[in-house]
This record gives sequence, C-alpha cells and structure tokens, in this order.
Amino acid sequence: MANAIESVLVENRVFPPPESLAQQANIAGMAAYRALCEEAERDFTGFWGRLANEKLDWTTPFKTVLDESDAPFYRWFADGELNVSANCLDKHLTNGNAEKTAIIFEADDGTVTRVTYRELHARVCRLANALQAAGYQAGERVIIYLPMSIEAVVAMQACARLGLTHSVVFGGFSAKSLHERLVDTGAVLAITADAQRRGGRTIPLKPALDEALGMGGCEAVRQVIVYRRTGDEVAWTEGRDAWLHEVEAGQAETHTPVPVNAEHPLFILYTSGSTGKPKGVQHAAAGFLLWSQLTMEWTFDLKPEDVYWCTADVGWITGHTYIAYGPLAAGATQVIFEGVPTFPDSARFWRMIQAHKVSIFYTAPTAIRSLIKAAGSDVKVHPNQFDLSSLRIIGSVGEPINPEAWMWYYKEVGGERCPVVDTWWQTETGGHMLTPSPGATPTKPGSCAMPLPGIMADIVDEAGGPVAQGQGGFLVVKRPWPSMIRNVWGDPERFKKSYFPPEMGGHIYLAGDGAHRDAEGYFWIMGRIDDVLNVSGHRLGTMEVESVLVAHPLVAEAAVVGRPDDVSGEAVVAFVVLKQSVDESEAPDVAKTLRDWVSKEIGPIAKPKDIRFGENLPKTRSGKIMRRLLRQVAQGQEITQDTSTLENPAILQQLGKSH
Ligand code: PRX
Repeated sequence: MANAIESVLVENRVFPPPESLAQQANIAGMAAYRALCEEAERDFTGFWGRLANEKLDWTTPFKTVLDESDAPFYRWFADGELNVSANCLDKHLTNGNAEKTAIIFEADDGTVTRVTYRELHARVCRLANALQAAGYQAGERVIIYLPMSIEAVVAMQACARLGLTHSVVFGGFSAKSLHERLVDTGAVLAITADAQRRGGRTIPLKPALDEALGMGGCEAVRQVIVYRRTGDEVAWTEGRDAWLHEVEAGQAETHTPVPVNAEHPLFILYTSGSTGKPKGVQHAAAGFLLWSQLTMEWTFDLKPEDVYWCTADVGWITGHTYIAYGPLAAGATQVIFEGVPTFPDSARFWRMIQAHKVSIFYTAPTAIRSLIKAAGSDVKVHPNQFDLSSLRIIGSVGEPINPEAWMWYYKEVGGERCPVVDTWWQTETGGHMLTPSPGATPTKPGSCAMPLPGIMADIVDEAGGPVAQGQGGFLVVKRPWPSMIRNVWGDPERFKKSYFPPEMGGHIYLAGDGAHRDAEGYFWIMGRIDDVLNVSGHRLGTMEVESVLVAHPLVAEAAVVGRPDDVSGEAVVAFVVLKQSVDESEAPDVAKTLRDWVSKEIGPIAKPKDIRFGENLPKTRSGKIMRRLLRQVAQGQEITQDTSTLENPAILQQLGKSH
C-alpha cells in the first residue's frame, strides 16, 4: 500500500526543462514544439518535404513527398535518389567534421579505440570496394552477426553504400534463429566474428553461423567474412570463408556510393510478433535516414560538442537507428561499448560516463533497475561516487520505466539537472514516436509524454473511434511517417494483417500497445495488447517460445505467459504438459533440460525463468488455453475467475509449483 501511494505521488510530479535548455535547445520551449506540430498539421507533406530537403543530400531530388495510392504500402520521397552512407560519412569530409571523433569504442577489457569521421569513411570505403569487386549487387541481402564493435558499424555502412540490404542478427541468438533469417532473407553474404567478449568471457560467434549454414536451405550464401576479434581458433571452410582484414587489405580508401531509390530497402530486422515466426521488418533508405537524424537533433538535442552514448546492441532497432545511422548522420561523437553494465562491477556505466565525459546517455529501464539494486547493496558502485556532471540529457527506451526507477535515474544519475527522455517506439516505427522534447516538455515520471511533431499518434477503441480522456485504448498512428515499416519481408499480407486492421479502415497503424492519455495530453503506455512479452526490453512472442517447447521430445503441450519482474520488467513463465509425467525429484532436471533447449533454439533471452508442470492446461470448453488464468497462477495470485468450466480444477494446484 505504501508503495502504491508513493507511486501516485511520484506520478503526479512534473519537472520543467532546465532554463538553459528551454532557451537553447533545438526545440526550445513548448511554443517551438507546438509551432512544429502545427506546421505538420497545416501542411503535412510540406512539413516532411521541407525537412527531407533541408536535412538530406539527394543525388536525385524528389518531387513527390508521399504516395498513398497503394496504402498501407506508403511510399516516401519515392522519385528521389540518395545514398545513406554518403549522408552519414561523406558529407562530414567537407563540413568541418572530418577530424572529429566519430566513435569512441570501449572494449570489454577497457581498451579504448577512437576513429575520426575521416578514418571511419576510409574503413567503410575499403570494405565497400572489396564487396563491389566480389560482385555483390544492390538489392542483395547480407546477414551481419557481429559483436558490438566499430566493425559492426563499418559492415552496416558498407552495405548501405552499395545498396545491399542488411539484416543484423543479435549475437545472443542461436544457430536456429540465424538459420531462419538466412533462409527468409535469401542472403548471399554473411559477416561475422570469431567470437565476442562480454563480461570477461569469450562467447563464440562463428560456430553458430557455421551450424546455421550447415542446416541447409541457405546455399545462396557465397561467402562468410570473419572479423578476427578474439583470435580464438575457428573452423574454416576454404573457398567460402575469408578474414575481414584480408578482404579489406589493399583496397582504396575512397569509393563512389551507389545511389538508390528513396524506398530501397536499407535493412530488414526481425522482431517477434504474436505468431511463432518472427517478422522481417523492412525499412526504406531515405525515410529511415531522415528520422534517425532528425530525432537525434530533437529528442536528444544533439549539439556539435556532445558526447553521446546509447548502450543498446546493434542487433536491435535501437542500435540501428541510434548507433549505426542517426548519430553518424547527425555528426555526433558517440561511445560504443562492447561489454555489459555489471563487469568488472556495476559501476561500469558511471565510470565510462565520467571517463568519456558523456553528455547524452541512453539506456533501458532493465539496466537502470539492476544498477539501482547493485547501488543499494554496495555504495562503491553508486553513481554518486562518480563525476557525472558532463551529463545533460538522459534517455530511456524499450519498456515502461516505473516511476520509482525514473526518479532514481533523474536524481542519482542526472543530478536533478537532466531531463529524462522516456522514448516510446518500436522496431516497426524506425525511430522515436512519443517522447518529451528535452528543452520543451515538462516531464512526468513514467510517461513518454507526447508525439514528436509530424507523428499523428492517438488512442482509439476497437473500431478506431475516440476514447474518453483517461480511458485506456489502442495506441495508433493515424497518418504515415517517413521511418515507418514498409513491409514484412516477403509477406505483404502479414504486413497488412498485423498493422492495419480492416476494422479501423485498413490504413491506420496499430502499434500493439495499450495506452491512456491524461488531461494534459500526456501518453501513458499500459503494455502490449497481444501475446508479445517484453523481457529486459527484448521483444519475445509467447507462441515463439511455445512452439520451441512443444518441439522437444518430452513435451506434449505448453503455454507461455509473462509475469511482472522487478528487474527484467517481465519474466517468462512456461506451463508444460509432459508426454510422460515425472515425479517431484526429477522435475528440476527436466526443467533445466527444457530451459537449455529454449536457450539453444532461440537464445538465452527466451529462457523461461520459471517452469510449471501439470497433467493438463486450463482450457475453455472450446479448447482455448485460459491465459488470463495462467497469468494469475504465474503470479501466485488468488484465482478470481470462474473456474467451473475447467475439466479438472485441481490442475491449478499442480501448476502453482515452480521449478
Ligand atoms: O511495448 C512497447 C515497448 O517495446 C515495444 C517495442 O519493442 P521493440 O520493437 O523491440 O523496440 C524496442 C526499442 C524501441 C513496444 O511495443 N516499449 C518500447 N519503448 C517503450 C515501451 N514501452 C513503454 N515505454 C517505452 N518508452
């Protein structure tokens, strides 16, 4: 109860932007924010056309801003041409940024490497030249399976330079996940590393790729390029495998970028949906580039002297938009970190902010919550032991941030000086959608504030109609925006079905989150409305985990639900019916076997925290699993629902015991 009261008090607090920001920010004050919103409302295409002309270098200027003729397959700037990498690198060779540090890379062991924009450009050109000489053509797909590194950015940028569509696979994903993506994209090239270093450990990467390629169906892959990161021995397939440093050796440090159509697919990034198979979210070159650059300037108020650090992995959308593209397009100096926040101790982030004089810091609530815990039990890792005075803006992404964690972040990390930008967005949106503008919006702990200018977000009922203020509803975006998803790779029907429900008219983007809005127009995200979980900021489909569980020879049936978790936001709980029941003493071993299986099939992030065994699952008469009931069981709550329709109510008792 005390906690609940505290939450309400915190939620009602409002923090105005600091005076300096309110005067000098890129969006300085609410009047400036409103003026941009009004411009977008008054002349929607004029607004976006103006920004695309001002911000991007076009090789062929566009004439049409937005083509809605085949909605919801919206096309932006579609008669224009540009090159994304030229907009991220080449422009800095002539605008005074050439000798500016582009990347400060800190390795797991603390070693720091810096590259300037000129050096980064040269590295990207060398790889692009090598790939071009090897005959790779614009439009072909490349799988990138690399650790956090300068090389990952170089690989993505080299693809963009040639119009090759990349699909980055997070280093924590398994061979099987990798295989699915190799097959679905029809990749012709894969770029990986021997291994990665995280938390003092070496985690192999190439073996998973070798295993995936061995599964068959990906014969289109002509070459595997390997970045030597750790020097660990790796198996080698002659004729197919090549070292990155050998591929790059002797290549010229200049390269003419290949212009592509604005709508050309820049990348495909897989994300979980409510069915078993992850969706290949397809993003378009120009629109994505525009929004990645613009939101760096708006949400993070990026200025030339800033040192910016986003702690996400390049394997997720945050690492695409806010590491590999946005910061470069905006000419930032950014920190890229190989390791984990808890190694060598839980002060790693604070020590790095101090050492690199980071001024804009962007991380996830899960990391914040785990560092709150650590700081509570060991004062040496508390942020107040470090000089964090360089910080001026701190951001949050990926999951709801609870007001208590928000307050700690604001006070202990931001020293009550730095606005917290709680950014709501998705793999599909390509960039920020709802967020405070740090020099304008007064912030409220736990709210991601308001839509950015040009983003027509709203909250509606099932039919797309309005809901009363304060009432929960579906979060939607009523007009297209440049960085939106263009398609589900190879599956246009799924694209339409997943995001543009016919009940709402077929052209309104349905985000999949519930939300409500308060009297001042602030949005409050209430979580997913579908069977998608958010574990430590990572999206996971319950059906994805279920289908892996039932593929195990011991398992007859499985249901997966989420349970609120203090640190990871949500935790995976699996209810399993075994083909042959086991006794109490064997259950923990079987649970471990199944956990390892999920980890092997999808990746460690999908591992159920808790596994419950029963003779059956609670189902309705029509055979539908009663998930709401399972969620209550998972949380150890009293069952309030009518269970009279259950065939065997005693199974609830069985399912209550965790392993
Ligand atoms: O449920 C929302 C949650 O994360 C989902 C998107 O996940 P993903 O595509 O992996 O992208 C994560 C990085 C942008 C959303 O549907 N989510 C993301 N940001 C927030 C959030 N929930 C609450 N507050 C946020 N700031």
